[in-house]
Amino acid sequence: MSRKPDPRKSDPGSELNARTTGHQWDGIEEWDNPMPRWWLWTFYATIVWALIYVILYPAWPLITGATPGLLGFSTRANVAAEIERFEAANAPIRARLVAADLETVTQDPELVSFANNAGAAVFRSHCSQCHGSGAAGVSAKGYPNLLDDDWIWGGEMSAIHTTITHGIRNTTDPDARFSQMPAFGRDELLEPAQIEAVAQHVLAISGQDHDAALATEGAAIFAENCASCHGDEGKGNRDVGAPNLTDAIWLYGGDKDAITYQIVNARGGVMPNWNARLSEADIRSVAIYVHGLGGGE
Ligand code: HEC
Ligand code: HEC
Repeated sequence: MSRKPDPRKSDPGSELNARTTGHQWDGIEEWDNPMPRWWLWTFYATIVWALIYVILYPAWPLITGATPGLLGFSTRANVAAEIERFEAANAPIRARLVAADLETVTQDPELVSFANNAGAAVFRSHCSQCHGSGAAGVSAKGYPNLLDDDWIWGGEMSAIHTTITHGIRNTTDPDARFSQMPAFGRDELLEPAQIEAVAQHVLAISGQDHDAALATEGAAIFAENCASCHGDEGKGNRDVGAPNLTDAIWLYGGDKDAITYQIVNARGGVMPNWNARLSEADIRSVAIYVHGLGGGE
């Protein structure tokens, strides 16, 4: 395309400048200059582009989804295909994990490395809201820290696996771990003075400041009412999920008020059964992950 020199540029007084739209405001006239060619063509090109796009790709929103377009392109289908490809690639190792013997599985480095990665992901999405994010190990009252080597229900691989599979004190799995400490105060099984004394005994066996005379009195009450679950020395019993009362690790807090509250009201922590929501491979992965966090036995 050859361009003629624009006379307006060389001669501001040119006749051409007289071409106006006829609009006038306070003596200011509006020029009637055509749009530059390049601008116009770009504009037409975008219209053509839009038409082609609407024909080939998903475009008009409908009630569910959108017009599909001739190419059948779908990010959702791409993600689904990607997940399928990923699962197919992992299927053999997941099958090996499910078939493995839980007690010897840690001797297979390939399985352990797979399980740790998969288990960490399961832990992040299903466990950390209660147990705290793995690495930080922060956990709220009533939710045990899984990083330490203090176990309520057992720290062997098979015990951890059972706990995760069936859960604790839930009403959805008949095989859930179950036990219930009596509410000694609320149900008036012990007098307030006896509760005070046995709390002093718990303070004594956990190595904290206590009233020695009351604690001696409390020792007898403990032997009669508490030792059946917590053990003669208060070191706990995993068969009934009774925690060790002699260490510095507490589920509900170790000061006198927290201990007294538990003796009076007897809380019992609940955990869902994961066999309802996770595959066996995922349960095993997260069991191996938790076992490997530091405290597995
Ligand atoms: C809704 C909260 C909640 C969620 C989610 C949860 N847990 Fe728990 N978990 C608990 C509670 C509460 C306890 C302690 C129960 C008790 O007092 O005995 C517990 C106990 C445990 C124990 C036993 C610890 C011990 O010392 O014996 C293990 C192991 C465990 N959880 C693993 C998991 C794993 C793995 C997941 C994720 C798949 C998970 N938990 C998700 C609430 C939860
Ligand atoms: C039937 C068994 C049983 C008996 C009897 C029992 N407890 Fe418990 N106790 C438990 C269980 C189970 C838990 C853990 C509750 C949980 O995990 O939520 C517990 C928890 C506790 C805790 C909280 C520990 C922590 O880490 O926060 C204290 C303190 C305690 N018991 C003291 C006593 C005292 C004192 C007595 C006797 C007066 C007693 N218990 C009798 C089963 C028992």
